[in-house]
Amino acid sequence: MARVYVSCRLPEPIPEELARSFAVTAHPGAAPPSRAELLAGCAGHDGLLVTPLERVDAELLDAAGPQLRVVANHAVGYDNVDVAAATARGVVVANTPGVLTRATAELTLALLLALLRRIAEGDRFLRRSAPWIWSPVFMLGTGLDGKTLGIVGLGRIGREVARLGEAFGMRVVYASPRPQEAPWPRLELADLLATADVVSLHCPLGPATRHLIDAPALATMRPTAVLVNTTRGPVVDEAALADALSAGTIAGAALDVYEREPEVHPGLLGLDQVVLSPHLGSATVETRVAMGRLCVAALETALLEGRCPDNALDPAAWRPAP
Ligand code: DGY
Repeated sequence: MARVYVSCRLPEPIPEELARSFAVTAHPGAAPPSRAELLAGCAGHDGLLVTPLERVDAELLDAAGPQLRVVANHAVGYDNVDVAAATARGVVVANTPGVLTRATAELTLALLLALLRRIAEGDRFLRRSAPWIWSPVFMLGTGLDGKTLGIVGLGRIGREVARLGEAFGMRVVYASPRPQEAPWPRLELADLLATADVVSLHCPLGPATRHLIDAPALATMRPTAVLVNTTRGPVVDEAALADALSAGTIAGAALDVYEREPEVHPGLLGLDQVVLSPHLGSATVETRVAMGRLCVAALETALLEGRCPDNALDPAAWRPAP
């Protein structure tokens, strides 16, 4: 039986589904493996099922050994994986596209509404038992209708956020390195930042997008604008964001991801104009089961059927078993 190492806890019924096909070594406990545990744990396995918390690089691939054929990354984002190093070793890497698009887009809108309608702030306010009374000017927020939604990165999730934004009456513009087939105007990033009421980040993390939103970028945004980040934390310079929010350079931020997860920049924690969630973009039962099933399918396709998985990031890495 092919051997598969699993670095994380998975929702039911994924563990049973995996165990039907493979001899599984599951990292014990709820905490992720330390680097040393990961390197030792994956040794001798034919397939790995890992999360964005694990760095899949040459060291890890070599620690796993030459029999390793496939890595299933339990995420659509794969900035944790050195795909070239995997390709060089004939290891195919698969991710989980498509199944988390709606969940992540919904969370983006949920965070945006929580921020603009001051839901999280209002919740904190009531829990302090602060005295209050309804009035026509009490805790006013901002609506979405007629506002400009600037989507940075028009992939699957960006498009879905655009669609949901339109349902709320928003006018959509987008920035992307290349023109896309889309019903929305494409702007240069600088123009989008200067005009959007809501800037929502959906670009993958890579060398070109690390700190894409830095102090100069924030300085070009409107003082009434808000930033939403549900992609990867390092796309935003968090220290610069905390400064911009404290100085009133922009009006607010809604964040699901952080530069040094699980840490959150201390300058963000005390600000009422900030809504925070702990990397919940794909965190619905339905979505996490679907992501698990895509990982199982990738492992089965590679290790049981001897074919390249459908969602391989680099199909050229696939080499049929000798
Ligand atoms: C992804 O799939 O990239 C998410 O961030 C993991 O929840």
